[in-house]
Amino acid sequence: MTSSQDALKKSAAIAAMEHIKPRLENNSVVGVGTGSTVNFFIDALAEYKHLFGSAVSSSQASTERLRNHGIKVLDLNDVNELEYYVDGADESNDNLQLIKGGGAALTREKIVAAVAREFVCVVDASKQVGVLGNFALPVEVIPMARSYVARKLVGLGGTPEYREGVVTDNGNQIIDVHNFKILNPVKLEEKINNIVGVVCNGLFAARPADLLLVASANGVQTLRRK
Ligand code: 5RP
Repeated sequence: MTSSQDALKKSAAIAAMEHIKPRLENNSVVGVGTGSTVNFFIDALAEYKHLFGSAVSSSQASTERLRNHGIKVLDLNDVNELEYYVDGADESNDNLQLIKGGGAALTREKIVAAVAREFVCVVDASKQVGVLGNFALPVEVIPMARSYVARKLVGLGGTPEYREGVVTDNGNQIIDVHNFKILNPVKLEEKINNIVGVVCNGLFAARPADLLLVASANGVQTLRRK
């Protein structure tokens, strides 16, 4: 990754911080995603930790970074209300439907996104696409089901590749599916979820982002879900 791409990720993360800051209260809980863009967000969040109560996190890596900054991290089961979830993405289309899971945290990310009232997605402009699927779609699977699920994914037109050596925070494995041209993301998300042995897939289409903050050389553009 180039340092200029890092600078764009940082400006998207800071824009997310600016977006949530006015509505933070002492007891607010902030939902935090995973990845290099979110790491910039966590660092920005740390500067304002006096403005909110705690966070919930979508990965062990983010939990560790939050705690290292002295931010309290709660179990999602102990949280009733989550105003914001801030996370990155590997791809976004114009409907703010996403491919996520490049960092293998897709299942917990999807769970926290489901709970949040507003899902704020932070990306640099390279993540915006017309049609999802150029980025291989991550699918988290129960280990013993990996080959079965892979065969079913071939049946759906994809080319599955086992992400060797990666174990998710949930103790599962990841299959990356190449060559999907995803014209109907909601339908494909549902079809893959219906394969026995699949824990979750990286299409965030049924629950897309609500707000997309896209950083480019021209500044940060704000896109709202229609
Ligand atoms: C992790 C994710 C990340 O949000 C996604 O991979 C983007 O990462 P980065 O901000 O490092 O480009 O879904 O599972």
